[in-house]
Amino acid sequence: MAQVKETQHPVKFGGYYQPKDRPIEEITARVGPGTPCGEYMRRFWHPFRLSSQLDQRPLVVRILGEDLVLYRNLSGALGLVHKHCAHRGASLEFGIIAEHGIRCCYHGWLFSNDGTILETPGEPADSPHKDKFCQGAYPVIEYEGVIFTYMGPPELRPAFPLMDAMVMPDNRMTPYLIHSPCNWQQVSENSIDPFHVAFLHTRVSGPQFSEVFESLPIVEYHETPHGFFYTNARRVGDFVWIRMHDHLLPNFSQNGAIFENVSKVRYFGRAGLTRWVTPVDDTHTLVIAYRHFNQRDDPLHQGRPQDNGVGKTDFYGQSNELPYAMRQDSPGDWDAWCSLGPITSHASEHLATTDRGVAMLRRKLKMEIENLAKGIEPQRPEPLDGQPVPTTGGDTILRIPHNGGDDRELILEACRAVAAVYVETQHLPDAQRRAAITQRLAPLNTADPSAVNPEHGKMFEFKSVS
Ligand code: FES
Ligand SMILES: [Fe+2]
Repeated sequence: MAQVKETQHPVKFGGYYQPKDRPIEEITARVGPGTPCGEYMRRFWHPFRLSSQLDQRPLVVRILGEDLVLYRNLSGALGLVHKHCAHRGASLEFGIIAEHGIRCCYHGWLFSNDGTILETPGEPADSPHKDKFCQGAYPVIEYEGVIFTYMGPPELRPAFPLMDAMVMPDNRMTPYLIHSPCNWQQVSENSIDPFHVAFLHTRVSGPQFSEVFESLPIVEYHETPHGFFYTNARRVGDFVWIRMHDHLLPNFSQNGAIFENVSKVRYFGRAGLTRWVTPVDDTHTLVIAYRHFNQRDDPLHQGRPQDNGVGKTDFYGQSNELPYAMRQDSPGDWDAWCSLGPITSHASEHLATTDRGVAMLRRKLKMEIENLAKGIEPQRPEPLDGQPVPTTGGDTILRIPHNGGDDRELILEACRAVAAVYVETQHLPDAQRRAAITQRLAPLNTADPSAVNPEHGKMFEFKSVS
């Protein structure tokens, strides 16, 4: 029998020699209690259900490999407790919801939302039982139709990371939740890879969103204390279209308008999608996101708020709701990330130039997880001085005429100028930030690329906003 071995050289019809075992990246793939990534994940708030999914009965949920029960007590406050009762383990999905908590069906023990044992009715009145331990419980916050929890050490609980995109004026948000039967990381990495848009969503099976996504974007990544943002630019006629993406660790991302035709100048467009990727366990994941609807960021009025909800959203390819044959003919994001398998094997991949964002994200994620294992707590986005966390996700469109040559450097220079303005104004309240960005980007529209002097080194000059 021939020896199965790895070979450095391509072997035609050599499937036999390809490695068959696909080792997974244990440190980032496992999210259960006590695992390095599970511990890291437990330093952040995560969304896990839509408010619309909860009625008057308890709801079983699984998050980060833990089985839990979500309920709304009779006072209206949400509780999230370990599924199995601290007494002898009956499931609290059969619990009776009470004024301030939930009562186990089996022997009637009553737990408050924070896990305190309020009553042990079958025990003697002086029983010390209820003061000695608690039901496992986690804090819950409900915001604009989405329910979030923090499952880490209570003493390290951060403030809820309210993002600026979540409080935009004149903006409607509708949430959606979609399940994927695969590891969280492969869903998350989709958002740091803007190159797939030119292929999966445009060239391979025709435009799924808009033809303007067809050209390969010019991409530059910027590291921040909480992760990354990147510029993702294309020339469309006389316009340079710069999409800004946020990708905060571990699992948050924002991108620009979902539907776009690049027909006029725009400054500081905001996110079309504010998205989290929440691990259910190692091989199941939830995408939970807000779709944004407003005049500025949905100029084509193609967004459909009513089509967002449980298992569905209003843009193509985010679930398996279409027939299999249709998804084979025109696969979407959901098909791509699920098709990598239950847990993708990084060791079996062959990363290339379009994967530099993925590689960078993996490096930073791994470093953060290893740092935490050494006792270094991660930085987390938190509102400061009552202001929401500033983000960058959204589109800026500039009119910069094409000079006929290769204008890649010009576009990159414009991206850097836009990125600098976004960063330098992020301490400002939203309306002031918008005004400052507009004021500083407007002169770029008059830029004449034929006048660019390469020796000057910079095509655009900006003064800092003080
Ligand atoms: S098992 Fe819950 S009260 Fe006994
Ligand atoms: Fe995509």
